[in-house]
Amino acid sequence: MKTDITTNEHIEEMVKSFYQKIFADDLLGPIFKDIAKLDLEQHLPVMYKFWGMLLLGQKDYKGDPFEPHRVLNSKVPLDQEMFDRWLSLFSQTVDDMYEGPTAERAKMMAESIADGFLMRFGIIS
Ligand code: HEM
Repeated sequence: MKTDITTNEHIEEMVKSFYQKIFADDLLGPIFKDIAKLDLEQHLPVMYKFWGMLLLGQKDYKGDPFEPHRVLNSKVPLDQEMFDRWLSLFSQTVDDMYEGPTAERAKMMAESIADGFLMRFGIIS
């Protein structure tokens, strides 16, 4: 029986598992590893805070979620296929591990943030 996302440990497990999928992915893996050259030790705690804010109402996240994507987009144009893949890996991660209203909210929020990014990039209107 799966539980819902209710604790920091759940968020950390979700984010770690998601990034394992992202790094192993043929389309997104090279963007994170070779283009962004992401330092996971530095990045994962940012993502824990981001999802902790969205799903558990915590107040530790202080960043600007769009900015790194604007920078990335100037190195490799991000497109709809990449966002679809990101969302599909994220939904798979959540569905494999959790079940409940907060798990559903996580997927809905990811979709609406992705739409916001796509609009700001002028890919959708
Ligand atoms: C094609 C889709 C995406 C790609 C390739 C991508 C890639 C990246 C990369 C490489 C970074 C780290 C940049 C750095 O620190 O140097 C990053 C940061 C981040 N991404 Fe994404 N991302 C995508 C979609 C999304 C979506 C849909 C969300 C929201 C749910 C999201 C949320 C974030 C957040 C919160 C950060 C950290 C921002 C900060 O530093 O405060 N990303 N992304």
